[in-house]
Amino acid sequence: MNRPLEKALSDFGAKSASRFFMPGHKGTAFSDFLPALPFDVTELNETGNLYQAEGVLADSQQEAAKVVGVPSLLYSAGGSTLCIQALLAAFFKEGDRILLPRASHKAALHAMGLLGMEPVWVPSPSGLCAPTDTARMVYKIKHHECDGVFVTSPDYYGICADIKALSVACKEAGIPLIVDSAHGAHLPLAGLPHPIALGADGACVSLHKTLPALTGAAAIYLADPGKTDQVRHWMSVFGSSSPSYLIMLSIERCFAYMDTPSALSDWQHLSKRCEELRGISQFRLPSTDDPTRLVVNLSGLDPDQIKQRMEACRLIPELLDTQSAIFIPSPFNSEEDFSRLKTFVRSIGELKGEPEAAAVPPIPPSLLSLREALLSPKESVPIERAVGRICAEVVSVCPPATVLLAPGEKIGTNLLQLFHSYGILSVNVII
Ligand SMILES: Cc1ncc(COP(=O)(O)O)c(C=O)c1O
Repeated sequence: MNRPLEKALSDFGAKSASRFFMPGHKGTAFSDFLPALPFDVTELNETGNLYQAEGVLADSQQEAAKVVGVPSLLYSAGGSTLCIQALLAAFFKEGDRILLPRASHKAALHAMGLLGMEPVWVPSPSGLCAPTDTARMVYKIKHHECDGVFVTSPDYYGICADIKALSVACKEAGIPLIVDSAHGAHLPLAGLPHPIALGADGACVSLHKTLPALTGAAAIYLADPGKTDQVRHWMSVFGSSSPSYLIMLSIERCFAYMDTPSALSDWQHLSKRCEELRGISQFRLPSTDDPTRLVVNLSGLDPDQIKQRMEACRLIPELLDTQSAIFIPSPFNSEEDFSRLKTFVRSIGELKGEPEAAAVPPIPPSLLSLREALLSPKESVPIERAVGRICAEVVSVCPPATVLLAPGEKIGTNLLQLFHSYGILSVNVII
């Protein structure tokens, strides 16, 4: 892939011009820990503007779109959070009912609340690595219970939703399908199609989660290039007017990496490694749609003992709770990293345990709109004193990023035990 942004920044640097523009580090302060600092510039004629349809950054985004094979692509230096805000604002309008699984990230709920949209919930599946209930979603789409669909795929557990089935139903109903693929930027390298190839209208990917890119690096994929200007506009509404050039440069580098044959072989090799680890214990490491996501089933085991074993192996997972540990490996992990992981998996592979069904949190009744509840004055109270009151924030647990309580929902006594089990001691309620 051509790298227009990197070329523009290198050419600009070669001029050795005096930097009387932002940022204040002038490309020299802190250069001992950040050699890339000279590339951290601002919007100049030479360096382009992320929110304009022409220039170096537009060229770079077109190059990246070719790499992943999508009709249109936009960079985000504000993670998938910014992408979700822009996608929801561009595809839906105030008052729209959005169908989404309870296992959705709070970024989506916050954006929907601020934009005046209402959730139509689909309960979370029970158990580790269970797929989204597509049949239930399709039923609701067919019965016109929503004006659009927002679904996460893959989820934290590397499980994909049936995007094809959802897209067929959405197209028949004439409503948009947006996919939160924050955890799936690497999927094409792992041999799986991206959501646009499966019929989604828009999707976001957090490059920084699984691929070599700086934190905050993400992208939007669009099926219809005619939608690009509108989505870009909303990116400029919600995003910083000074998006980081270092993050944007890392995005360009990341797509250029995806375009190399070595990236494909790197990820094939990684998939094989993960397969070998799963071979040690299929009970402890259930299979996932994403071949490179490692979910360790901890049911029946003592969480403190597991934590100690992990520490002894000097491993830090992405997430750890009483049910599971999630590891996000990449080709950039070292041999030593994989050998430690193997030691850990071997050591727990022999331990016996009964599979425990994870509790499916009930969906409480909603007494206020999402927006009203989000914007209302609130106070933090211990959960025991919160019973009977209206929740003013998104209370969720990770993994699997399931919403326990959404703003506007009434807090019932049945949630207390669940809150305790997740160590949630207080909650924001409406005054
Ligand atoms: C499913 C999902 N969607 C969206 C986000 C937000 O992504 P970002 O951190 O790139 O803003 C996350 C972050 O963890 C996530 O897990």
